[in-house]
Amino acid sequence: MTGQDGESNDVVRRERFSGGPAREFLSSLAADERIFAADIAVDRAHAVMLAEQEIIDEADAADILDALADVEAAGHGALPDGEDVHAAIETAVIERVGARGGKMHTARSRNDEVATCIRYRLREDVLAAVETAVEAREVLTEVAAAHSETVMPGFTHLQPAQPTTVGHYLLSYESALARDTERLLDAYDRINRSPLGAAAFAGTPFDIDRERVADLLGFEAVIENSMDASSARDFLVETTSAMAGLATTLSGLAEDLVVFSNKGYVELSDDYSSTSSIMPQKKNPDTMELVRGAAGDASAGLNALLTILKGLPRAYNRDLQRAHPHAFEAVDAVTDATEVAAGAVATADWKEETLADAAGEGFSTATGVADLLAMSGLPFRTAHEMVAHAAEHGSDYDALDEAAQDVLGEPLSQHVDREAVEAALDPEQSVASRDSLGGPAPDAVEAALDRAVVGVEADSGVLETKREALAAAADRLDTEVSSYA
Ligand code: ARG
Repeated sequence: MTGQDGESNDVVRRERFSGGPAREFLSSLAADERIFAADIAVDRAHAVMLAEQEIIDEADAADILDALADVEAAGHGALPDGEDVHAAIETAVIERVGARGGKMHTARSRNDEVATCIRYRLREDVLAAVETAVEAREVLTEVAAAHSETVMPGFTHLQPAQPTTVGHYLLSYESALARDTERLLDAYDRINRSPLGAAAFAGTPFDIDRERVADLLGFEAVIENSMDASSARDFLVETTSAMAGLATTLSGLAEDLVVFSNKGYVELSDDYSSTSSIMPQKKNPDTMELVRGAAGDASAGLNALLTILKGLPRAYNRDLQRAHPHAFEAVDAVTDATEVAAGAVATADWKEETLADAAGEGFSTATGVADLLAMSGLPFRTAHEMVAHAAEHGSDYDALDEAAQDVLGEPLSQHVDREAVEAALDPEQSVASRDSLGGPAPDAVEAALDRAVVGVEADSGVLETKREALAAAADRLDTEVSSYA
């Protein structure tokens, strides 16, 4: 709501700071929609605590809580004008209950308030991101299980290197996503601490109960030092960093799928492809290109955050208003990208024949032949030299035999029998032979799959526990609030 001369009714700005050319520049009200529900919850918990501590009387608390329910029902869009959502909600409460509504802001500041709201909202967003990452891991393990024996070429430098399987390949991303999940859950534990009660930065003379507010809001602990509590934003840095890391993992997967589509190894489903407005025959892996691009958004957000925070003096500075939107944007972009990447993997068609044909290309079994020779007692370096010599002329038994004569001065059969060499040259048998821990042999992949499933289940459990803790806190708060009705 704007006064007749374009002045603000904002409780904070009042007449003196009522507007002017910088009015919109100063305001975060539009962006604060993201923390509207969080602010209502924070106001409720704070009002309950103030009444319990007899800092405000119960009748005032009841009226404030009543007004808050009304403001919540009307929604963010119905808020009066304000410098931010905190001021606008307070204005709206005062509009409903009169000046007594201003008691809501006793013993706090917008500085500790906004810090609390960001943490409160980000918890939910990070848990949603974790859920999506866990679901993506589930998809990867399922498709990997279906393709534990599907032989494919493996690359280094994007050159044919050694044959592997689609299952082994996909599990490599599951492992990376498991660590990304771990980092997000780790960040969550540091997000989940309450700054409320720090006030502007210097605490308050009122006999507040910071632990009680933290508990009503589901925070695991309070951030003790009040100057730290109101100004700390390192939780945004680590969350955005974890999101950027996750996006970087996905960008590799996306790039692979773009390349593999190009080579005809895999076909994305139509749902995850796009076409050209001019070239009618085109089917392009656009979703994967966008997933690849999302890593750019996330790392740009991380860089923006670090740049905003660098060199900020203690305690609160308004620069901070421009910090958290970067974290929210990164969480949104990367969570969407994770969901799309998982969907693309779940529905992709791996072309088994093409993959099998390609698996042996570029003498990809050369390392296996060298390993075989080394197993027969030849120093690996000599075996490597001999196979490298053969590779200049061919990739079959004859080329190897000739190389043996040239390099070792004796026939290949002196060291290994022909059958073993032919087996080593076969991509499928080559894969089967590499059964070391974490290797691509189907048995090794099966064992890895079992462990991956256990890890996915464990993280789902952690996620559920955290969500239950938040839901229980929300219930506690509801119960307290309704006791004032
Ligand atoms: N909207 C601000 C933010 O997002 C909080 C307000 C604190 N303002 C102030 N002048 N101390 O950081």
